[in-house]
Amino acid sequence: SKLEYRGYDSAGIATLEKDSIKVAKDKGRVENLYNLEDTKKLEGSIGIAHTRWATHGIPSKINSHPHLDNSESIAVVHNGIIENYIELKNMLIKNGYHFISDTDTEIIPNLIHYYYNKDDGHDDLKLLRAVKKTCDSLIGSFSLEILSKYMPDNMIVVRKDSPLVVGKGNGENYVASDIPAILSYTKDFYLLDNYEYVLLSRDNIKFYNKNLNEISKETTTITWDAMAADKDGFEDYMLKEIMEQPKAIRETIGSRLDGNKCNFSELDSDFSKEFLSSLHQIYIVACGTAMHVGLCVKNTIENLCKIHVEVDIASEFRYRDPIVDDKTLCIFLSQSGETADTIAALKLSKEKGAKTIAITNVIGSSITREADYSIYTHAGPEIAVASTKAYTSQVVLMTILAIYFAEILGTADESLLVDIKKNILELPKKIEEVLKCDEEITKFAKKIYQEKDVFFLGRGIDEAIAREGSLKLKEISYIHSESYPAGELKHGSIALIENGVTVVGVMTDKDLVKKTVSNIQEVITRGAKTLVVSNQDIDKSMFDVVIDIPETNCFVSPILAIVPLQLLSYYISKEKGLDVDKPRNLAKSVTVE
Ligand code: F6R
Repeated sequence: SKLEYRGYDSAGIATLEKDSIKVAKDKGRVENLYNLEDTKKLEGSIGIAHTRWATHGIPSKINSHPHLDNSESIAVVHNGIIENYIELKNMLIKNGYHFISDTDTEIIPNLIHYYYNKDDGHDDLKLLRAVKKTCDSLIGSFSLEILSKYMPDNMIVVRKDSPLVVGKGNGENYVASDIPAILSYTKDFYLLDNYEYVLLSRDNIKFYNKNLNEISKETTTITWDAMAADKDGFEDYMLKEIMEQPKAIRETIGSRLDGNKCNFSELDSDFSKEFLSSLHQIYIVACGTAMHVGLCVKNTIENLCKIHVEVDIASEFRYRDPIVDDKTLCIFLSQSGETADTIAALKLSKEKGAKTIAITNVIGSSITREADYSIYTHAGPEIAVASTKAYTSQVVLMTILAIYFAEILGTADESLLVDIKKNILELPKKIEEVLKCDEEITKFAKKIYQEKDVFFLGRGIDEAIAREGSLKLKEISYIHSESYPAGELKHGSIALIENGVTVVGVMTDKDLVKKTVSNIQEVITRGAKTLVVSNQDIDKSMFDVVIDIPETNCFVSPILAIVPLQLLSYYISKEKGLDVDKPRNLAKSVTVE
């Protein structure tokens, strides 16, 4: 249940006791499991469990994990996708196996059984060899937990491109897809590389490499306390995470900006003036909210470092043969560090000779294993599906990185850099100020929660903020929303504006504010209700609601301006009685493409 936030549609559990594997599973929430007759029959002190997000086959009891092999000797839960499952299924059918689900996963326990029976050995590694042979024949991504009558006190786990961590306890050991899920039991974790096999029992953890040679691994101690992954008195994780942004930002800044000095020891001397000035371009590649961070900081990097910046969606970048070479720096943003498309884009960039930096919040996540350099945001665990503090902490981090590069390059005015740094250090206090708009936003949310469409407008950096505001709203309130560069609206989409439609305007760029005001005037004339987020000198009387945010350097204004928009989507979702933390169809970590 601690992994529910990742998004799922079915849940299941299998335990092993006295040579018998018992399974309880069904579509729907984890809490439904408590009432199943099958759950009451579960026995034992070793078990595997899963929350499924349907890929192959509809959400149903049969398609839920764990899956058993035909002889009911092996149970498996699987995250990821097996791309060659049809040919493997056909091979197994030819060998007498039958299948009851539509999933790709069901082939895995059967394949293990198949290889197990073909192995003449009788030693302790027989099951592990069968698992290895199975994994060697799988194409795709997987993290697997395997339970078997053949080794009743043990569990085997392995990962390839899907997350999995092992937690070391005392007389007990744990496996999970994510650190926060087991943080209240242990702080000592083993982080696994692809194709590392783990044989666990209550008192023992053994690691094997791809060739099944035993290897030793060090634990990583996680310093987050378990509270950080709890709701801490808040109604929802999302509200907690919005409210803790001052703290999260403080942590991000604290690790990177020491007074006036930027600190990126991870990048060391490789990022010399010579290297940075040899760059033809920087790519920022990411998905969803993280990609919106890229849009916010593109202008900052170009302005301060005088290097051309392209921002790309990872799922597009990876398939379009981008112009990337050793004169390119590729930066990958990912809160979870597990997003399949972002990781694939990173691998492609490396193949093409680029230097790669991963910026992530999750220590030891897959992306950090692939990138040349990894920089952590230190924002604390983000549990709500809708990303909030990860966004603001990434914008802060990327802005400090831009300053760091500009200082090495000598491309920006010293006084400008000093001013931005001063503004960055003031951000936590200013976010606290912005959070006071809570009540005003709640009132507006009550007014518009039944709307069908909402439009978000802005220019320049404000357009990037508008995009993120729009994404937040549709994700958790299910209201259709779109964002536009304010000047683009009249080239077609203004046809959608009619009496009563809600328009949200963002105006933090003093050079563009007058233009945006004119565009919003145009929608007001056509009957729109308006909410404006601004720190500029504007005539407030023309708008229905104006949320004043503190003045700040325009480069860091997204960090303040997004907060009222996060709250707006939160309160609309609450007003509609929706599950804020677990919006429909969405998963926290998108580990499949
Ligand atoms: C939006 C949201 C998603 C993620 C996207 C990338 O609220 O959470 O759009 O931003 O799936 O995820 P990460 O940053 O983990 O790569």
